[in-house]
Amino acid sequence: MAEIEINSQNGKDFSGDVLVVPVFSGRERHRLPLAISKVARQVMDEGDFKAELNEMVPLHHPNGVKDSRWMLLVGLGEEEQVSLNKIRKAVGTAARFCLKKKWLEAGVVAPSTSVLNHDLVQESVLEGMLLADYDFSAYKGEKKDPRHFKRLEIFTNGEDTRKARRRQPMVEAAVKACHRVRDMANTPPGDLYPESFVEAAQKLAKQHKLGLEVLDVPALEKGGFRCVLGVGQGSARPPRVVKLEYKPKEKPRKHVVLVGKGVCFDSGGLSLKDASGMENMKDDMTGAAIVLATLAACAETECPVQVTGLLGLVENMPSGSSYKPGDVLRSRGGKTIEVLNTDAEGRLVLADLLHWAGEINPDHIVDLATLTGAALIALGDSVNAVMGTDDKLVARLLDAGNATGEHLWQLPLVEEYREALKSPVADVKNISGTRWGGSISAGLFLSEFVQHPSWAHVDLSGCFSTKERDYRPQGATGEGPRFLLEWLHG
Ligand code: BES
Ligand code: ZN
Ligand code: ZN
Repeated sequence: MAEIEINSQNGKDFSGDVLVVPVFSGRERHRLPLAISKVARQVMDEGDFKAELNEMVPLHHPNGVKDSRWMLLVGLGEEEQVSLNKIRKAVGTAARFCLKKKWLEAGVVAPSTSVLNHDLVQESVLEGMLLADYDFSAYKGEKKDPRHFKRLEIFTNGEDTRKARRRQPMVEAAVKACHRVRDMANTPPGDLYPESFVEAAQKLAKQHKLGLEVLDVPALEKGGFRCVLGVGQGSARPPRVVKLEYKPKEKPRKHVVLVGKGVCFDSGGLSLKDASGMENMKDDMTGAAIVLATLAACAETECPVQVTGLLGLVENMPSGSSYKPGDVLRSRGGKTIEVLNTDAEGRLVLADLLHWAGEINPDHIVDLATLTGAALIALGDSVNAVMGTDDKLVARLLDAGNATGEHLWQLPLVEEYREALKSPVADVKNISGTRWGGSISAGLFLSEFVQHPSWAHVDLSGCFSTKERDYRPQGATGEGPRFLLEWLHG
């Protein structure tokens, strides 16, 4: 990570490649340091820059700034409408521009406003810069050219910086977790499969002194994980289940189990997806990556909550040994499931794991899964769906998402739709038989296997972006660990 400094200077003496200056639109421009505001005002008065959100203007060797080769104005929109997330986005957009230009020594002037708490503004500026400072070039051949900031200086123009400095390790850990999820989800499925995922988990667990238990196929058989085994039986890569444990040094405030869907590749199995449907299915392990990264970050930040992570790692492939539509699987808790579509595999993996989570008897269970295409249809790729049996828990997760700028939206687990999951031959079937309300029926299916009063399920529709947006690069967005950490620490 870059060398970072948060100081109370105003930025005009900054020497480096670029000074990023976020600017509000409208008349209120006088809060910037004088030398800088003069430059900004001139550009705005000439009509070349309206300071709309994420709008940018680079200026070469601007007057009034000592040694910075460039000044980059970036718009924040109207001051009255500003939010921490707009600041993260604007700063992140600017950061990505700087990285493309190879401006690796950057200063940023934290915007001064009475609308928001200045500690949080400073923190969001740092977070926006760091979240944007990501590239995935490990698989480039000739054009490999990784770019990261070498130095970041955040100027606060006389404001108190103590709180933001204290929070810096927390911000860094959360961003690292986000980048870890991006790295794992971006890794090609030829390299990331259940066993190699386990290796990554072992490495991280060792680094962070997390407890780790790995269940291989005989252990899964012994433990009754027949749904995990059923989904995995068509693949040459055998499934694994991992249990991770983070325990705080002092008596934990509470205990949470996080469950992650880790389908390392989802071809659909015999209910095969079409070619375009498979393009991003290497990302189907995002839930498990979020759980792993979050546990590592809990250790780094000495989270006061005990967190257990359960990862269901499996490949869903068609072959002569695949599970078939019509098969009946007996889940770990004993409930039987008629499989009518082998592409509804995530809920089967989670059925076994949620039952295990209940046995652990924590205060809350939260699962994270790229469970349905229907969540994308309902909410698009910037909003994750959340549902559950404990509205208070769901509300906490929604609040946490609001704070970190990761959008979550609650869907109702209406009982009316449960009827459609009844099976003539087993206790339940794994599809409802209609495409309508697909995310809710998947949630209701999961609820059949939860023996716990406080459970929430996050359907990760925001995990992948086809194009780069603000601080998010193209590909895996890495959403998840930040709102989980916000909730766990809160
Ligand atoms: N992993 C997919 C869900 C998914 C699809 C996530 C597209 C993101 C983008 C899941 O395993 C799946 O295939 N679900 C089916 C369920 C259906 C068969 C009831 C789906 O959504 O089509
Ligand atoms: Zn599927
Ligand atoms: Zn899937």
